[in-house]
Amino acid sequence: MKSRSAEFRRLWGYSVGFYGVWIAHIGRQTGLFDRLSKGTLSAKDLASSTGLYGPAVQAWASAAESYGFVTKSDGKLELAPQVAELLLDRSHPEYLGGQIAYLALRSLEFGKLAGLFKQGATHPVVSNFEAIEEATHWDHFAFLNAIRRNKSLDLLLRKGCRFLDVGCGTGTLIAKLLNEYPRTNFVGIDASRKAIGQARKLLGAKTFRLMKAEAMAFSNEFDIAYLGESLYSAQNKQKATDNCFRALKKNGIIAVIEGLLPTSEIRADENKLIMGMQLDFALQGHRFLTSKEIQSILKKSGFRSVRLKALGGAVYLITARKQ
Ligand SMILES: C[S@@+](CC[C@H](N)C(=O)[O-])C[C@H]1O[C@@H](n2cnc3c(N)ncnc32)[C@H](O)[C@@H]1O
Repeated sequence: MKSRSAEFRRLWGYSVGFYGVWIAHIGRQTGLFDRLSKGTLSAKDLASSTGLYGPAVQAWASAAESYGFVTKSDGKLELAPQVAELLLDRSHPEYLGGQIAYLALRSLEFGKLAGLFKQGATHPVVSNFEAIEEATHWDHFAFLNAIRRNKSLDLLLRKGCRFLDVGCGTGTLIAKLLNEYPRTNFVGIDASRKAIGQARKLLGAKTFRLMKAEAMAFSNEFDIAYLGESLYSAQNKQKATDNCFRALKKNGIIAVIEGLLPTSEIRADENKLIMGMQLDFALQGHRFLTSKEIQSILKKSGFRSVRLKALGGAVYLITARKQ
């Protein structure tokens, strides 16, 4: 490889990275990593203890060893350092398992990209919500940590307030928040019947309403309105945030978590994921907002004290207040 040009090695790295994503995803999805996190064992014993097909586990194990996910000594496989935290621990700040699962699952629909480029045909996410749920656990823990660090917000939720989750998906954020803030009253709305159905199964029917953000008619009722990776997909973003403004009480807070498209340093490693993900979003008929666009939308709705906090990988927590 040393004799190859730098450009060749760069492109070779992309091919290897593709398989790296799949080795990691399969290791998580099938429970192979999980089993290895409990102790070392041979590939044969790994297959029998997980009930998986032996030859496939053998192939995975040697691939995982080659890619550094596991090490082998005396014929026994062991998880490499940090793999458990980075790929299995959802609350770890450097958790990448969700992102890897999202990439693997979404790539199953990328055959449709040809139609986008030839006819402009967009394609909503048809898979169940697994890819989205996997990816958003990271956002949820980042949001929870931001709340815990903000003493007044933490106290407000602890004492009990009213929290509106706009585009709540399958309700997994509300489940996490309820666990920590049982005195707070949560309402989740989502435009997808399927998502609301799953959310109701998780936490009961009362908390969730099938509704578009653009059609919300709440007025002066909530202390916090949260939009977790949902604003980008609202057809009328201004109407969605106008409705959040009206839904909030005076001094209420809007909190948005979104990937924001960088306008500089697009070759930086930190920004490469979102730059690539533009293809996935274009296929769904969406695009990422820039920080300028989101600030302007929030200010037009009447929000003040707009603040952006970088959470890493071009994902931001944007907060603003209704004064
Ligand atoms: C990427 S998912 C995020 C789900 C959830 N907020 C989370 O963090 O787990 C985006 C969600 O927004 C919903 N959504 C998209 N446009 C919407 C709209 N205009 N009004 C309400 N919900 C919307 C989708 O149905 C989907 O469930």
